[in-house]
Amino acid sequence: MYEPISPVGGFPATRLRRLRRHEWTRRLVAEARLAPADLIWPVFVCEGENRREPVESMPGVARLSVDLLEPAIAEAVELGVPAVALFPATPADKKTPGAEEAWNPENLVCRAIREVKQRLGDSVGVIADVALDPYSSHGQDGLVVDGYVANDATLDALCRQAEVQAEAGCDIIAPSDMMDGRVGRIRSALDREGYDHVAILAYAAKYASAYYGPFRDAVGSAGALADGDKRTYQMNPASGDEALREVALDLAEGADMVMIKPGQPYLDIVARVKQAFGAPTFAYQVSGEYAQIAAAAQNGWLDYDAVMLESLMAFKRAGADGVLTYFAVEAARRLRSE
Ligand code: PBG
Repeated sequence: MYEPISPVGGFPATRLRRLRRHEWTRRLVAEARLAPADLIWPVFVCEGENRREPVESMPGVARLSVDLLEPAIAEAVELGVPAVALFPATPADKKTPGAEEAWNPENLVCRAIREVKQRLGDSVGVIADVALDPYSSHGQDGLVVDGYVANDATLDALCRQAEVQAEAGCDIIAPSDMMDGRVGRIRSALDREGYDHVAILAYAAKYASAYYGPFRDAVGSAGALADGDKRTYQMNPASGDEALREVALDLAEGADMVMIKPGQPYLDIVARVKQAFGAPTFAYQVSGEYAQIAAAAQNGWLDYDAVMLESLMAFKRAGADGVLTYFAVEAARRLRSE
């Protein structure tokens, strides 16, 4: 791809700065584009009415009660954001070792899905996670048997959770649990129940990351997890080839789209996955990434708008088709006014 630079082809005939001279030339030759349509907005949902609870470790982010979802999401849609991902902050008294609340059709996330789909219909895509951590008293994504997160026993629970969410009207099911074989099992369960139109966005390469800290505060699973960790199922940050094997399996099992998570520290994985499979590839700019930028900007140490947009453009340059980001609404607003 790089021709050897001949004496004629090199400097001074070739001046790469020439096309950087004007804003219009820079725009003309830009290799990646960032648009509101690239953004998915994760939204935290809480119980109650007319409640907007700020998340302390994520300045600018709040949990919204179900009745406040429609106006907030309508604004995002108006700005061109195509989809939202809903995350319930389940009250502690609904959490059990068996996470049964996960497949209660009246649980918080199902009520939230119904509200958004009833009010906003097909103007927005609704994504919901499949994993037991919002509902388990131990904070793990799966069922714990003899101190270990049991893979196969968890699969049945995940299928029931996926079914109630699909029944509530969810457009995209996003398994974030990292159990082996869950995409195939969920695909069959959805098809059997008549939800063959519901898509699967697999958290295919999800790492055991400390960057999820603020999220666990936001949904209230930090306390439950306490000193536990998720290293027996989420990936080791040291490994990259293994991410390709995870993605290959999820695609083979029927995933429509794949995700890499966290985002910025794993851009090498994003680029490799997109190059290797050419499938719709998403990255999750997770809570800790958001907190770093938002907190530094709050202190006046970083330029909020500039760093936000640069961090998002990096995903597009790496090859991502889209980004889940807590900046979605603000970024779309800036992009619209540019
Ligand atoms: C739940 C889930 C997590 C995130 C998304 N879904 C946390 C975890 O795995 O502990 C993290 C998102 C973020 O940090 O923004 N399985």
